[in-house]
Amino acid sequence: MTRQRTPHLVVLTGAGISAESGLKTFRASDGLWEEHRVEDVATPEAWVRDPGLVLRFYNQRRAQVRRARPNAAHKALAELERDGFRVSIITQNIDDLHERAGSRDVLHLHGEILMARSTVDPRMCYPVHRGDIVLGDVCDKGSQLRPDVVWFGEAVPRYGDACEIVEQADLLLVVGTSLAVMPAGALLRQVPMDVDVILVDPDAERLAPPGVAKIGQPAGEGVPELVRHWQRQGRLWVPETLLE
Ligand code: APR
Repeated sequence: MTRQRTPHLVVLTGAGISAESGLKTFRASDGLWEEHRVEDVATPEAWVRDPGLVLRFYNQRRAQVRRARPNAAHKALAELERDGFRVSIITQNIDDLHERAGSRDVLHLHGEILMARSTVDPRMCYPVHRGDIVLGDVCDKGSQLRPDVVWFGEAVPRYGDACEIVEQADLLLVVGTSLAVMPAGALLRQVPMDVDVILVDPDAERLAPPGVAKIGQPAGEGVPELVRHWQRQGRLWVPETLLE
């Protein structure tokens, strides 16, 4: 007797899925991230130059994340999982909105803003349940703590894990990412040839690589609609209207 495997939906999310929760995307038209150049706040060089500024910047971002609430897109993905679908989420986001919506299998490719990490031993991480990280906050080895996020120019330690997950996908759903940042953007190349890919992004028409089905809508509309299709039929499929 053969046992049927539960189809596996892998979801790659970017800043766009949290936009409707009030968290800004990175590549806005002015090229700034919340009024800062990324070089000044999100690089190892910025940390060496002015760690106080970097900590203040992330303290503000952390406060915003705490105030934000999961939106319809986060909730729909969590609901699909509760309905018995196998759902793995790989997010470039440092917020915890997928988890707060109820998703249980979430890989944070670029780290988590609600965690602090030692500057001498990356294995030493501490939750920042409340408050900020400030100069003078140290790990158990006595070294300054930093946000547990991946800055521009740093290695992405969990990329290998993400590749393995994508290789097991039966369908890949990509939501709200410009796919501009490597190596996250290269994850699409790890998808097996026979696996369909759907992109939900208001700019999908321009961003989608060849062969990718496009839904040019905000995440809060496009994702719940797709999820409803899958729930109704009890299987993962690409709606015919999306096939070229
Ligand atoms: N719904 C879905 N997508 C949206 C929405 C929305 N409501 N609003 C905007 N978008 C899309 C934009 O069209 C864009 O394609 O979200 C995408 C955001 O792109 P980026 O700002 O480049 O964000 P992302 O791809 O997540 O960036 C990757 O870059 O700055 C680093 O580490 C940071 O994880 C981040 C990485």
